Amino acid sequence: MDKRPIGVFDSGLGGLSAVKAMLKYLPNEDIIYFGDTGRVPYGTRSEKIIDIYAKEDIAFLENFNCKLIVAACGTVSSVAKNAISQVKEPFVEVVTPASEAAVKATKNNKIGVMGTSATINSNSYLKAIQKINPDIHVSGVSCPMLVSLVENNWIDDDDKIAVEIIKRYIKPLLADDVDTIILGCTHFPHLAPIISRVAGNKINLIDTGYEAVMKAKQILLNYNLANESHHLGNADYYISDKTQNFSQIANTLLGMDISDRAKFVDINKFQLPE
Ligand code: DGL
Repeated sequence: MDKRPIGVFDSGLGGLSAVKAMLKYLPNEDIIYFGDTGRVPYGTRSEKIIDIYAKEDIAFLENFNCKLIVAACGTVSSVAKNAISQVKEPFVEVVTPASEAAVKATKNNKIGVMGTSATINSNSYLKAIQKINPDIHVSGVSCPMLVSLVENNWIDDDDKIAVEIIKRYIKPLLADDVDTIILGCTHFPHLAPIISRVAGNKINLIDTGYEAVMKAKQILLNYNLANESHHLGNADYYISDKTQNFSQIANTLLGMDISDRAKFVDINKFQLPE
């Protein structure tokens, strides 16, 4: 039994797909969320910069004495190898659990991956999937504009622009006849209803945020780290830019008003010597 909080981070609003699952499946846990809205997007940046940002994000969360850290970010999980290797706490990234879920879900051994440019260029999902089953064909597509759609709240089911952009991104995956698509960036589950409509309901969508939370749950149980008190967990949200924009969209994504729990943090204070 461990009452310390779980730290979750992402470049912005994407990691809320993990928070949403955490509130549902780990309701007793306290959560400290960090969204690096001052520096979003990560996925178009170099590996070196993403690694530095990830180290600072982790350094910020380590101040809260977290019992577990979740990189709710496909980009960090894919390329910030150095940052990840230095985490002292139990740690969950999104690539492995999402790849495992996709391998279980596919029937025709053809999996598509939608991710940021950094994620797709790293081939992280391809490697993780083919480590489990080398016969699976993996097609990847970089979808950087989907991050902006979410950060700007253009996610309504009937948003024509979102639908057109998704149609264009998803076309090569459908041409490759995939039966399963990994939403390889945690921003994308927020667009799942549109993606599902465009892809057709026969295609399995793998939600990276949800899969990371299932992995976190397993670790809490295996290492006796779960918070077994019967209180409902609190979630606090730290953001590296104006909190209003974040709260407004977060309220819609989470279906609850988190405005008074959103606080600004100057992430530059967590810069580490190179
Ligand atoms: N949500 C992130 C991911 O999972 C990062 C998106 C971005 O900042 O480009 O890849």
